[in-house]
Amino acid sequence: KRPAGAPDKSLARKVTKIGIVGAGLMASQMALLFARRLGVPVVLTDLDQERVDKGVAYVHAEVDKLADKGRVNPDKANFLKGIVTGSTSKAAFADADFVIEAVFEEMSVKKTVFAQCEEVISPECILATNTSSLDITQMAADLKHPERVVGFHFFNPVAVMPLVEIIKSEHTDDATLATAFATGKGLGKTCILVKNSPSFVVNRLLGRFMGEVGKIVDEGTPIEVADAAFAGIAPMPPFVLIGLVGPAIALHNNETLHAAFPERFYSSPNLAKVVEAKKTGFYGPDGKLDPSVLDLFEAP
Ligand code: 3HC
Repeated sequence: KRPAGAPDKSLARKVTKIGIVGAGLMASQMALLFARRLGVPVVLTDLDQERVDKGVAYVHAEVDKLADKGRVNPDKANFLKGIVTGSTSKAAFADADFVIEAVFEEMSVKKTVFAQCEEVISPECILATNTSSLDITQMAADLKHPERVVGFHFFNPVAVMPLVEIIKSEHTDDATLATAFATGKGLGKTCILVKNSPSFVVNRLLGRFMGEVGKIVDEGTPIEVADAAFAGIAPMPPFVLIGLVGPAIALHNNETLHAAFPERFYSSPNLAKVVEAKKTGFYGPDGKLDPSVLDLFEAP
């Protein structure tokens, strides 16, 4: 059955090479999924060789883990390692059909990245964004070919979460949209077409939940109690989830929603302090709350 809003699949273009802008954790998880499910070359790019190498090394290490678990055989493991490569130059996207960005969540950065990609990619190559909240129409507006831009939003952990949100801008054409749906299907994901509005659908739903738990803690409930309280509702306690997606992304989502719908969404000033202090999460590797993070919290 065709997903609601998806164009006829006969319009989809063939995808034989993937380009990923960014080699951070989200980008590297995406690289592994694209390689494993589509079996096509994937190239990760980032600003410097160190970041690129780190991203590729993550993918290789994850492939080794899959091989150790017997999920992929040794030949497949070697194949996957061979098709995921890295580069510091977007020129590596010249023969890609589908380029997706997973860089810093800021409109000007994403616009610059897409403009740079347009200099090198082929006329038919899709430009997808993994943004969790930004306006796709605005992101595409200044490009020569805004019709090839589409939102393609994964969830963390990318290998496990079953959904991809597909977002159509005012410019996106049917071939781009059909290719996005076909690619998502090839990745084994359920794809839904969502409106181009702040934080789309999933993060808007999650934002109510995360805003409320932020308020509960800001009012004086200990984090351990708030996290424990959610055990029966959600698979992951909210302050563990913030560590998984990254405090900066969680805050960006809360602030975007608060700006768009101030009466319904809360954005915690204490979470803003955690981000300002560049903390990567609430819990340390030992599974205990990090006291240096708790020290940042103001008493209610
Ligand atoms: N990467 C890859 N695979 C992972 C993983 C990771 N980081 N974490 C867990 N997995 C895999 C495990 O290998 C295991 O696979 P297997 O059964 O095939 O061996 C499977 O997931 C289950 O893992 P566990 O048994 O260790 O642990 P859990 O049952 O607790 O599941 C979880 C872990 C799937 C992460 C679960 O806690 C969960 O669903 N959490 C909620 C995550 C969530 O809400 N994500 C959305 C975040 S919002 C977002 O990403 C949007 C963005 O824009 C901010």
